[in-house]
Amino acid sequence: MTLQDLIPVVNKLQDIVTTTQLAEIDLPVLAVVGSQSCGKSSVLENIVGKDFLPRGTGIVTRRPLVLQLININKDDPLVRNYNEADLREARGPKTDYSLSSDEINLEDHLRRRTGALSSGSSSMNEEPSEWGEFLHIPGKRFYNFDAIRREIETETARIAGLNKGISRLPINLKIYSDRVLNLTLVDLPGLTKIPIGDQPTDIEKQTRNLILEYISKPNSIILAVSPANVDLVNSESLKLARQVDPTGKRTVGILSKIDLMDQGTNAVDILKGNVYPLKLGFVGVVNRSQQDIQDRKPLEDSLMAEQSFFANHPAYRSIASKCGTRYLTVTLNKILMNHIRERLPDIKAKLNTLMGQTEQELASYGDVATLADTKEGRAALLLNLMTKFANSFVSSVDGTLLDD
Ligand code: GDP
Ligand code: NA
Ligand code: MG
Repeated sequence: MTLQDLIPVVNKLQDIVTTTQLAEIDLPVLAVVGSQSCGKSSVLENIVGKDFLPRGTGIVTRRPLVLQLININKDDPLVRNYNEADLREARGPKTDYSLSSDEINLEDHLRRRTGALSSGSSSMNEEPSEWGEFLHIPGKRFYNFDAIRREIETETARIAGLNKGISRLPINLKIYSDRVLNLTLVDLPGLTKIPIGDQPTDIEKQTRNLILEYISKPNSIILAVSPANVDLVNSESLKLARQVDPTGKRTVGILSKIDLMDQGTNAVDILKGNVYPLKLGFVGVVNRSQQDIQDRKPLEDSLMAEQSFFANHPAYRSIASKCGTRYLTVTLNKILMNHIRERLPDIKAKLNTLMGQTEQELASYGDVATLADTKEGRAALLLNLMTKFANSFVSSVDGTLLDD
């Protein structure tokens, strides 16, 4: 049993918490922050390895997007029967949580995702095995990632309007894939100073507060994106991150647009941690340019181009193995594991509280037959099973940790 196994449990709890609003529980989440157009959505897309987020110049991300990546293993018999499992879940409480019990091989997944070391031919004739699902459209699988992007745009406009307005109401999206690591990420609107369109005069303050809402949670990891072509002292993301994480222990610096730096300058000092102190360090990335987006440059090509950019650049060659999206993803996964490990005692305490509440709730609902008839009843039942499962799970992980 590995710590990685905890993530689906936590994800499931987040769903239950979101749909039932039974209780608040702080969950480990990676939140992407930065000034408008610094490359937040691009960074997220690269981590996911899929084209599906609205990106571009100007204010594009106008509602928080809570994005859960869920790793599925196609060869796992449980996944082959996944449709059946889905049906069961739709009919009633699902008690089978062994979907992701296999230990995940980071290197293998990343290799396949970036396509860097794969032959390329074997993956071509495989069936599409990844899809997205929105919380606001339960049960509908989006196999087409362009359709996911359109749905995000439509759903953004439905709540935040068509004219540059922002809303604090999140969009919840899950991506199931055999080519992602288990991560939960939040894409956030960027910081802007000057109101445009329907934006209120205090747009800066509102956006700031919205971002703070996510990053002030002590168990959130802040992905602070700064564009490399702007002086780091002006970085909005680092200023915000410092407010809630003054010692820099849960902030990862991401330096985007390294390809757009002035000739003769480079980011080596920043990347080596000599300029701004962050315990988790800085990772440099090169995302797709606006031209690449217009030309519909495939993401795999851009990830390869990014790797060769760092490997062939005289300034970055010697640190190339610690640059780029691939390294960023490995780093994030490690950070997430450590983070969950640190929060285990807390999560356990919260689960106990939830369980106590749930048991009271169950008692008030009467017998189980009646229980399964209502949405709230099913949710309570499911939560009860979940908390029991997670409690025994957390104890077993605790045991593992003691052996370390
Ligand atoms: P966001 O507003 O922070 O979410 O930024 P987006 O991801 O939407 O990107 C804004 C614009 O910057 C888009 O036109 C991207 O193509 C471009 N961009 C983002 N990152 C990079 C990068 O590393 N290099 C280059 N050349 N362009 C980038
Ligand atoms: Na943008
Ligand atoms: Mg964006």
